[in-house]
Amino acid sequence: MNRLFIGFALVLSGVAAAQVAAPERISSTATRPIYADLSRPLEERVEDALSRMSISEKLHIIHAQSKFSSRGVPRLGIPDLWTDDGPHGVRPDVLWDEWEQAGQSNDSCVAFPALTCLAACWDPGIARLYGESLGEEARYRGKSVLLGPGINIYRTPLNGRNFEYLGEDPFLASEMAVSYIQGLQSRGVAACVKHYALNNNEVNRHTTNVVIDDRTLYEIYLPAFKAAVERGGAWSLMGAYNLLGDEHLCHNDRMLNGILKNEWGFDGAVISDWGGCHDTRQAIANGLDLEFGSWTDGLANGASNAYNNYYLADPYLKLIESGEVSTDELDDKARRVLRLIMRTAMDPSYGYGSLCSEAHYDAARRIGDDGIVLLRNEKNVLPIRSREGGKILVVGENAIKMMTVGGGSSSLKAQREVSPLEGIRKAAEGRGMSVDYARGYVGDVSGEYNGVVTGQNLSDSRTPAQLIAEAVEKARDADYVIFVGGLNKSPGQDCEDSDRESLDLPYAQDDVIAALVKANRNLAVVNISGNAVAMPWVKDVPAIVQAWFLGSEAGNSIADVLFGDVNPSGKLPFTFPAKLSDSPAHAMGAYPGVKRDDSPIVDLEYKEGLLVGYRWHDTRKIRPLFSFGHGLSYTDFRLGKASADRRQIADNDSITFTVDVTNTGRRAGAEVVQLYISDPDCSVERPAKELKAFRKVWLQPGETKSVSLTVGRDALSYFDAERHEWVAEPGDFTAHIGTSSDKISSSVKFNLTR
Ligand code: GLC
Repeated sequence: MNRLFIGFALVLSGVAAAQVAAPERISSTATRPIYADLSRPLEERVEDALSRMSISEKLHIIHAQSKFSSRGVPRLGIPDLWTDDGPHGVRPDVLWDEWEQAGQSNDSCVAFPALTCLAACWDPGIARLYGESLGEEARYRGKSVLLGPGINIYRTPLNGRNFEYLGEDPFLASEMAVSYIQGLQSRGVAACVKHYALNNNEVNRHTTNVVIDDRTLYEIYLPAFKAAVERGGAWSLMGAYNLLGDEHLCHNDRMLNGILKNEWGFDGAVISDWGGCHDTRQAIANGLDLEFGSWTDGLANGASNAYNNYYLADPYLKLIESGEVSTDELDDKARRVLRLIMRTAMDPSYGYGSLCSEAHYDAARRIGDDGIVLLRNEKNVLPIRSREGGKILVVGENAIKMMTVGGGSSSLKAQREVSPLEGIRKAAEGRGMSVDYARGYVGDVSGEYNGVVTGQNLSDSRTPAQLIAEAVEKARDADYVIFVGGLNKSPGQDCEDSDRESLDLPYAQDDVIAALVKANRNLAVVNISGNAVAMPWVKDVPAIVQAWFLGSEAGNSIADVLFGDVNPSGKLPFTFPAKLSDSPAHAMGAYPGVKRDDSPIVDLEYKEGLLVGYRWHDTRKIRPLFSFGHGLSYTDFRLGKASADRRQIADNDSITFTVDVTNTGRRAGAEVVQLYISDPDCSVERPAKELKAFRKVWLQPGETKSVSLTVGRDALSYFDAERHEWVAEPGDFTAHIGTSSDKISSSVKFNLTR
């Protein structure tokens, strides 16, 4: 282009620009109000915003405006707050005020493994990865609050929502929750830790009044929430539906004001569970900050778009206008919600996240690979030995049924879900092996939740006998038979708002397994569930794998382990009892509670107290089917004799235990060194032993690593309810180091002098 033309072009472009001058923009931060100035301290911004808001505006931000959002302050440019389920992935959008789908095509997600799988990883680093990945998905979807993690303690194997939680031990749940929360919030998305607290079963979940002693409350059911707040820095928390002391947890003075906000210093927002708020005065005075999902006419379905009828809406305004209540509580609630908005939606520094990236699928697969638990492997049936032309038979409905749809509010619209059959087939065919399939049994052929449909047609008119006959026939000449069964996400199984009625596998799966045992010795059972199940065939089946609800990469993770591309390293986060009556809540007749004569309230006394899970089995010497912390490997490990850096400690000293772990096998793998403490001399009853430290360690064949675990006074303490404080009584303690709660390799005595 010649010079003259260039000059001419430049003049023209200058003229054009002058004629369409850019609109006046806020050019300097000097004109930007404090609340919107990111360079100012958070509390200054909160106070500045609050000072500019009317009473009406403050009321607007402390209750829902739609199914999953609450209003910001449009006049001030403070954005609405968007929440969404759930703990394993970002739920698809529903209509403004309906549970039905919005019908969008941009809200599919990566379905990550359920949190029981995460807990089974016994690796806070993986929990961090989980939180970061999920946070990126939520951020991209424009969600500021992710309604998770769920961390309620596994008290009964019948609880429909155990699959969403982190198991039976408060220390394991704490460690995994803290890292998940830190990961999630590092992406600018608030965790909403739930369901605070004592929501340990689904039956009667709105009307159960838990009766519990303080020591059990503080030692078993609060620690994970305390850790989430104090170490995880959770920005929000969800009140539970149930009651304690006849007060609903969503507005329970002792739990919210007394413990959460005063004892623990929680500066975030307490969000009600959807429909968990029942009373304006209690909600005002007892610490609820943000009301969602209310059925303002009691527990029936509320009127559509009746948000002004919410307990913290017009009824609250009337009490203020009448002078019956001050605006002190309102200011505190509004502060907490503003803080939540400014930590998330109003902070652009976190960027835009990312959705359905290969990195997130890789993370989902890694979590599944690391969380799958090899429960039994007699004669090393697994891993599958590839043989050109080898034949594998896969049996069972759970090999083909989509599991990301259903189960309640954690249900998802996964962009993809690799079924166990697909994953096994892909891996086998890559090894020159063929895979055949037999249904084995017909369970639940439905496939819809809240308007999300799987699109699968699982109907099958054959009789159980015909289905078993087909499976047995095909099993006879297979090299391997893989039965994939367990539970599913249907009501009465692993599903919100209902509990199971028995420990048994449903749909007569035991009959199918018994028939396959006779047909082929090379049988592996893959149990897909978020709960323990009875296994009457346990001695007859050489290989058993606990494969959780694994989400998008389910089939690939299961194949990774079955074919040995991954050496399983998962450890059970809860006990598998041999029978239901061996489980503490059931042995003590402490489930599901006793309904009062004159009210819908069901009193449920936690009679087993501290003895939850392995605490019960160890202390009462009741042998479990599979113990807490149990998990096998395709290699072998040896733990040396543990030693301690001292034998006496006092005051706030810590003590370090060291043990050498050697991989004595021929392939790389990981072991989890677990440290349990017992206090046999204590003046009060204590569980036989309690988990107080753990470390997952990866080792090459022949490699030895020295693992050190340090504990302090808090690990020796019990909660003295009378004195309302933690007490470590001087005397002898024992540290038990091993690789599961019932596989202790060495113990070290030490003394606390004062
Ligand atoms: C549900 C669940 C809760 C969920 C909320 C919103 O009832 O109890 O976990 O986050 O409502 O769906």
